[in-house]
Amino acid sequence: MPVSRRAQAIRPFMVMDVVARAKELAASGRDVIRLEIGDPDLPTPDVIKRAAEEAMEHGDTGYTQSLGLPSLREAVSAHYLATYGVDAGPDQVVVTQGTSPAMLLLFGSLLDPGDEVIVSDPCYPAYPNYISFLGGVPVPIRVRAEEGFRFRPEEVRAAITPRTRAIMINSPANPMGTTLEPQDLEALAAIAEETGVYIASDEIYHGLYFEGKDRSILEFTDRAFVLNGFSKAYAMTGWRLGYMIAPPEFVRPAEKIQQNFFLCANHFVQVAGVVALTEAQGDVSRMRDVYDKRRRFLVPALREIGLVVATEPTGAFYVFADARNWSEDSLGLSYRLLEEAGVAVAPGIDFGRGGEGFLRFSYATSLERLSAGVERLRGWSTSA
Ligand SMILES: Cc1ncc(COP(=O)(O)O)c(C=O)c1O
Repeated sequence: MPVSRRAQAIRPFMVMDVVARAKELAASGRDVIRLEIGDPDLPTPDVIKRAAEEAMEHGDTGYTQSLGLPSLREAVSAHYLATYGVDAGPDQVVVTQGTSPAMLLLFGSLLDPGDEVIVSDPCYPAYPNYISFLGGVPVPIRVRAEEGFRFRPEEVRAAITPRTRAIMINSPANPMGTTLEPQDLEALAAIAEETGVYIASDEIYHGLYFEGKDRSILEFTDRAFVLNGFSKAYAMTGWRLGYMIAPPEFVRPAEKIQQNFFLCANHFVQVAGVVALTEAQGDVSRMRDVYDKRRRFLVPALREIGLVVATEPTGAFYVFADARNWSEDSLGLSYRLLEEAGVAVAPGIDFGRGGEGFLRFSYATSLERLSAGVERLRGWSTSA
């Protein structure tokens, strides 16, 4: 039986192959420094863990409403009001098992076959994969390191066709670690309002912005979907909890998809999510300070060993460095660094053609390991 064209069209996430090889090397006794994956090394804050334990004890182990617990939908709405001053009601919130399933709800309720979504190149690869899987067409627009990987509004406007349904944005961004400025959000919101497309804003790295205040797309336009979750800022990747904030007319369609495909997010995890939003903001800022210290070490250290970081990364926990001084082939280079230097990094090509020649370094690991990794790379680059 042939495998479906739809499944064949999904590109592998190459960094996961790097992860597999890094684990193989580690199992054979090699000490590998793992800078390839965006998974916080810091533990989930205690207050959140206690809340989950208590919820389990309390018997919160069954299904919840498909849209999510009312208390969590209300907490998300209150969080957006307190953080950004935006009034997105609890009835616009759909709770999901992570931000990833929220992408299915978003694109599944927005796209008909052939509909287009503008994405940046490079970008988080799940976006184009989800869009294509659902019969849509991702339309990549190249963004440049020396411009902080920000869209040029005139290029976005020129890419809009009668089939365009949305412009996908992600700030702070994976893999780039850069952030959009308020004027970028304003310009994109104006394009959305003029042309009738939506902005789909992945805000999962909010809380991990080091130079100022997070800004939500909802401060600029209502023609927007927000994707967000607890994985990164709350160090909860394995808990699987996220949400979408959608324009009201998309909530029922998303609910139907959720009812059929996922039923609901985990009950006790949703209870803990309420506590994350209401009681763990101090933990989030403590973790942000830890990441910031690492960022301040890593960026100059990478520049010193010959990599180019054209724009200072100011968010998430990534540095996307131009490694063309070492090699134009990011996949080949990442395997060489793994085998020869014992350092695992993500190849830029994973994130689109615009990422070729770059390497993504994750600093979701201790300062000691980061520093040892840089020393190994220094040794490798001087002997290679
Ligand atoms: C930009 C971006 N969006 C979404 C996700 C997935 O998040 P979740 O764990 O909430 O599914 C990631 C994970 O790396 C990410 O980098």
